[in-house]
Amino acid sequence: PVLVVDFGAQYAQLIARRVREASVYSEIVPHTITAAEIAAKNPAGIILSGGPSSVYEEGAPSFDAGAFALGIPTLGICYGFQVMAQALGGEVAHTGRSEYGATDVSVGVAGTLLGDQPTEQIAWMSHGDSVSRAPEGFEVLASTLSTPVAAFASDEKKLYGVQWHPEVRHSQYGQAVLENFLHRAAGIPADWNSENVIETQVARIREQVGSARVIAGLSGGVDSAVAAAIVHRAVGDQLTCVFVDHGLLRQGEREQVERDYVAATGIRLITVDAAEVFLRELDGVTDPEQKRKIIGREFIRAFERTQAELVAEAAAEGAEPVKFLVQGTLYPDVVESGGGTGTANIKSHHNVGGLPEDLEFELVEPLRTLFKDEVRAIGRELGLPEEIVARQPFPGPGLGIRIVGAVNHERLETLRAADAIAREELTAAGLDGEIWQCPVVLLADVRSVGVQGDGRTYGHPIVLRPVSSEDAMTADWTRVPYDVLARISNRITNEVREVNRVVLDVTSKPPGTIEWE
Ligand code: XMP
Repeated sequence: PVLVVDFGAQYAQLIARRVREASVYSEIVPHTITAAEIAAKNPAGIILSGGPSSVYEEGAPSFDAGAFALGIPTLGICYGFQVMAQALGGEVAHTGRSEYGATDVSVGVAGTLLGDQPTEQIAWMSHGDSVSRAPEGFEVLASTLSTPVAAFASDEKKLYGVQWHPEVRHSQYGQAVLENFLHRAAGIPADWNSENVIETQVARIREQVGSARVIAGLSGGVDSAVAAAIVHRAVGDQLTCVFVDHGLLRQGEREQVERDYVAATGIRLITVDAAEVFLRELDGVTDPEQKRKIIGREFIRAFERTQAELVAEAAAEGAEPVKFLVQGTLYPDVVESGGGTGTANIKSHHNVGGLPEDLEFELVEPLRTLFKDEVRAIGRELGLPEEIVARQPFPGPGLGIRIVGAVNHERLETLRAADAIAREELTAAGLDGEIWQCPVVLLADVRSVGVQGDGRTYGHPIVLRPVSSEDAMTADWTRVPYDVLARISNRITNEVREVNRVVLDVTSKPPGTIEWE
């Protein structure tokens, strides 16, 4: 693999993704990794990420300089560039001149790294300190108005560095810089793709599972669907999928799983009809945290009941025992929960797809090394329907946390109808790519006066919350064209009983979260 050394900012994940976009497998490692540990991993290349600190700051994240002597091609980016410069005898100075944002870069020597690129380009910068002198034996490749050494290289040592952020899209030739490093400087072939990820995982799953039986929970979302499909590819009918219908799904979601997904995969599926139980338990509950707890608990109960039945059934038939449980854990979850770095866990959602901790089952996690976009690519490769693969995120507690107030059957019907209209119109307007997700919220405890036909109405508002985001950690409200909003508003107020007003949420995250509860 290519190791991406994380100096504690959010850049490492982005770099790891860009490397994979260049069809090279990458892994994120903490900056505390030692040269010996690196050598043991035998990486094809190393990329040092940017970071929030100055190399002179007390407690600035350090890096074992011995790694530069291993002969492994290494690229330093921003903070990583300065760490490299300092470790190898160059100079990093507080110039007092910071650069933030789009910056003009002049390329003096193209070399391996900047070959085939224009000599004047715009790159994304974010730094206070600068490299003021390159280490001995290094050639300065580029500069900016305030940074004399904006990139350097030693082909002989296979060490390279850039002050700017090539992983950021605003850097005009950023991806080219990364690809030149990977393919030309480090000589790594572009041969990592969905097909061989599937092949590798299928082999691994077969080895792990043997002839035992496997259970997978489906949530209707992309991750669990793709995870189960890969496992099915590997062990066929040893797998049974369980889908808990908690009655808090949107229009058409159950059918999508029961019909389209099963048709595409041939997976054996058990749907648990638990809507009545959930509604009973949620009766009269208005507190969001309370709702989440109830939904999470009931979900686990429903799942465990079915699981127990399957285990008993296998035993009664004298069939292979059920020993494994599939989970759609993704790489960012692994990295963020400390599996990749020391970075703190910023937010742990009560994931309804999440399963109890005292498992008697061994986990099968075929997506543990993958990012979301890669999971989608693999889903397509496995032939899953686009409605599932391209699905926008939807919270596990479902519509239960999109009704502000108590949840009941009528309110769910109202919200489901409004949500279906909003989704239909946003899709028809071609906005699905731009919108990360668009929660539609029913303010069930709020009423306002309206007039429809000749009569006074006293109905409930529907809130539209379209947001754009990269990862749901931060988000901005999407500037949906007025005519699309007008169409959605017209249709909802005309077609959905009880709703006489549609409002738009224009709050970014932070301060607002994406969901209302
Ligand atoms: P917030 O509201 O925290 O949401 O800004 C961030 C993202 O997480 C989704 N979300 C959840 N997903 N279980 C989930 O599986 C949950 O309990 C949950 N709560 C929020 C939300 O839809 C958004 O994509």
